[in-house]
Amino acid sequence: MARKIAVTAMAMAMAMATADVSFAFSPSARFTPSSSRSPSCVSTPSLRSGATSLNMATVKVVDKSGGQVAQLQCDRETILRDAMLAGKVDLYYTMKGKLFNCGGGGNCGTCKVDLVSGNLSPRTAAEEKLLKGCPPSFRLACQSCVMSDVTVRNKPDA
Ligand code: FES
Repeated sequence: MARKIAVTAMAMAMAMATADVSFAFSPSARFTPSSSRSPSCVSTPSLRSGATSLNMATVKVVDKSGGQVAQLQCDRETILRDAMLAGKVDLYYTMKGKLFNCGGGGNCGTCKVDLVSGNLSPRTAAEEKLLKGCPPSFRLACQSCVMSDVTVRNKPDA
């Protein structure tokens, strides 16, 4: 416990020194819309077979024609990318995306989805930059926290 507190204090000190990664070291930090880095929602998805808690959300993934690709259960505030990858959804559908995605850093723009319904966390600065010219419903899965039951369209550019 004391070691964990010391590690957390050291991480906070490092974060203060480098404001751009302020929440990357603190799992309990909350979403910071002005940041260009990953949102600070739950980073490890907890997928379940059925909704049993008010803290859970359903993520429906549909294709371009509206056909259901997957239906996932995860904790609210889970990063959408983490939930989709844990649910074996083919999030990175281009060769560029498969080979050169940034791993959730908000730098490549290859994890694009279209929010059909529900609530995700507000857009980050990285999304504002990478989704310039896209419809407002387009989001980067790695920058979006699941805040309610959501339906997202996978491969919106395909
Ligand atoms: S994985 Fe690169 S922007 Fe989301």
